[in-house]
Amino acid sequence: MASHPFLLCTFLLTFSISFDATIAAPLPKYVILNDAVQHGGGIKFEKIIGGIPYTKNIMGKINTYLWSTILKQNTPADRKPVDTVEVFISVHGGGEAVTWGNNKINVSAIYLRDYAGPMDLKWEFTSLMHHEMTHVFQWNGEGKCPIGLVEGIADYTILKANLYPPLFAKRGTGDKWDQGYDFTARFLEYCDGLVPDFTSKLNNMMRKTFDVSFFKNLTGKPVEQLWKEYKAKYAGKPAAAIRKLGT
Ligand SMILES: *[C@@H]1O[C@H](CO)[C@@H](O)[C@H](O)[C@H]1NC(C)=O
Ligand SMILES: *[C@@H]1O[C@H](CO)[C@@H](O)[C@H](O)[C@H]1NC(C)=O
Ligand SMILES: [Zn+2]
Repeated sequence: MASHPFLLCTFLLTFSISFDATIAAPLPKYVILNDAVQHGGGIKFEKIIGGIPYTKNIMGKINTYLWSTILKQNTPADRKPVDTVEVFISVHGGGEAVTWGNNKINVSAIYLRDYAGPMDLKWEFTSLMHHEMTHVFQWNGEGKCPIGLVEGIADYTILKANLYPPLFAKRGTGDKWDQGYDFTARFLEYCDGLVPDFTSKLNNMMRKTFDVSFFKNLTGKPVEQLWKEYKAKYAGKPAAAIRKLGT
């Protein structure tokens, strides 16, 4: 008699382990190279950010977060096939960072050297990695998705992860839906409020192509109308007024 519950337990345990193994594909390999060891930015990467061990660690966490929460891609078949993600701390490549060649991220050593706040450098690097890792794993309609929407989804990740800086766009700001970055991220957040998981659904529709009608498909309304209603919702509530005075 006593062996029955035991057997059942063993069975469930075995079953759940093999079940998880098929659902959770292994994470890609992360290859990180500090190509600026002598440079001020490369030195800060090692001393302040935590170098390659820290980077490898957060890449795994970000990757899992992207699949589970941002892109909601539960099976390997839903995901962009990526075996390896490479990161270079490099003096090559302008701006803060750039994702290129499908699976490569260059973080600018110059940016790391000169970053002067408002957040601390490790926080900033972590936020930046959320943005760039999104580029590696998001769909872009095989190049047909407007760049503003691509950048908007990358900033949507930092918004959802609570890793957005103080100057990030407030709700209702911006001039058009595909303005990009934080403006588009806020608009996507609004669309999530209309249709649960809107942003992940939109991304998953963009695997092979993009059409602006995807917005209508998901919400029943054309994107221009959504944008008008979004602006109207926050009209007359400038950023400062949204916050209660004294909080
Ligand atoms: C990224 O950095 C690597 C290593 O420094 C360099 O070879 C490559 O050209 C850079 N790519 C871009 C797009 O800047
Ligand atoms: C949305 O797109 C899907 C797939 O293309 C299609 O089957 C469905 O009918 C569309 N729904 C609406 C409301 O347009
Ligand atoms: Zn970007």
